[in-house]
Amino acid sequence: MAKKKLKDLKVNFNTSWEYAPAPESKDHVKINDRYDLFINGKFTAPQSGKYFDTINPATEKKIAEIADASAEDVNMAVVAARKAYDNVWSKLPAKERGKYIYRIARIIQERAREFAVIESMDGGKPIRESRDVDVPLAAAHFFYYAGWADKLDYAAPGKKVRPLGVAGQIIPWNFPLLMAAWKIAPAIAAGNTVVLKPAETTSLTALKLAEVIRDSGLPDGVVNIVTGAGVTGAAIVNHPDINKIAFTGSTEVGKIIQRSIAGTNKKYTLELGGKAANIIFEDAAIDQAVEGIVNGIFFNQGHVCCAGSRLFVQESIAETVIRKLKDRMETLIVGDPLDKNTDIGAINSKDQLNKIKQYIKIGMNEGGTCYQSSCAIPTKGYFHRPTLFTNVSQSSRVVQEEIFGPVLAVQTFRTVEEVIEKANNIPYGLSGGVWTDKGSKIFKVTSQLRAGVVWANTYNKFDPTSPFGGYKESGVGREGGLHGVMPYVKIEN
Ligand code: NAI
Ligand code: MG
Repeated sequence: MAKKKLKDLKVNFNTSWEYAPAPESKDHVKINDRYDLFINGKFTAPQSGKYFDTINPATEKKIAEIADASAEDVNMAVVAARKAYDNVWSKLPAKERGKYIYRIARIIQERAREFAVIESMDGGKPIRESRDVDVPLAAAHFFYYAGWADKLDYAAPGKKVRPLGVAGQIIPWNFPLLMAAWKIAPAIAAGNTVVLKPAETTSLTALKLAEVIRDSGLPDGVVNIVTGAGVTGAAIVNHPDINKIAFTGSTEVGKIIQRSIAGTNKKYTLELGGKAANIIFEDAAIDQAVEGIVNGIFFNQGHVCCAGSRLFVQESIAETVIRKLKDRMETLIVGDPLDKNTDIGAINSKDQLNKIKQYIKIGMNEGGTCYQSSCAIPTKGYFHRPTLFTNVSQSSRVVQEEIFGPVLAVQTFRTVEEVIEKANNIPYGLSGGVWTDKGSKIFKVTSQLRAGVVWANTYNKFDPTSPFGGYKESGVGREGGLHGVMPYVKIEN
């Protein structure tokens, strides 16, 4: 009898426990069957008449059709942006620009739940993250840069801070709405106009943002949103009437962009790949560190450019840390992104899932020891178990290359000097983390790690006031804070 009751409660003593499903409701969410391009304040059908499907990676079902913008469509968007820049936006008093941006921020907050659900449906990330991280941070970015609109002259005393003109912005699929906010907010606050392209697998929240922008009354043409794949992105990059390119995505495409605009007057910022080192010293609060490591790599399925994908553990505590990590991994719930209990949602696309699986094979062929949690994963949709590699070396490809999935490579070290050298021995330099009880070690490590952001005793903490960006092949320029607006202005006497 007692046994039956326990079974009914679905208690699983092997792991921890199972929760009853707690899916977020989709009833309040309105998604059209088809989305056109947002050009000059209006949704406009693409010249070619071509559309592509956006699918839900957790179900493999089609959600909507998205317009595929050609070079002609991109040109129409650039013409609209130029006209809005010349006739309206660059002439408007800065404090008036700020008012529109505050309005966009407030509407995002009002529609936060809708944005969160759509973000999880289109991109596969757990609702807990889209609800608690992506959407609030996107609103926070608009609020923050709205505040800068009429204060930029104070940032360069005695000089004039002027916009550049039309900015072309290309963003990836890992934080679709948030990346749109990171790009649009500083650009328009500084008086530029924008043509933005979301990633082809995650266009929906950018198109919802287009609705918000329209509803905010922002003058037509200040923000234009064109959808499509790499060809559409390249048409933006190569358009002669664009003054600045802002790109977030792979290092490979970043390099193509750099080559394409070499010799032109276009300014650029690139936020590219990463392979962050998370370093745990023996004096760290271990449980807290393990939680941070788990958050740093399994958060958002590892689809994070600053994911803590390399772990360095001091030798004396390696066994304990690895055991605790495995225990914690066992409790992670992989599944329906819309379920509030889900820790790891769907991998963004079939291509990305194949790439991750390929790296698992590479890691094993190189002699790495692979450990995966034993959880069940849905049979439909693109899912991957949290994975850990031990017995890997500095030259292993799973240590050197960006996987962009829930895969952690663990190495050990003995001294501070050794770990700094190992952590820096990589083409990337976006972020890192250090876990120790000693302030002096924090200072030493953070000052010697060649990475744009280093967190201490925490990980993946973001705030609009704080600049973010990379060293080496992780990119050029900063986003966030006052640093993030500077690439959108020229300073004149
Ligand atoms: P990607 O770099 O191809 O895509 C990013 C954006 O660039 C998308 O909007 C795409 O349409 C656009 N794009 C593609 N080719 C272009 C071109 N020639 N000119 C202009 N725009 C272009 O990244 P992808 O293929 O989706 O992912 C591949 C790998 O890149 C991932 O596995 C990951 O390692 C890395 N990645 C890194 C990101 C980051 O935040 N650092 C974000 C996304 C991917
Ligand atoms: Mg999609």
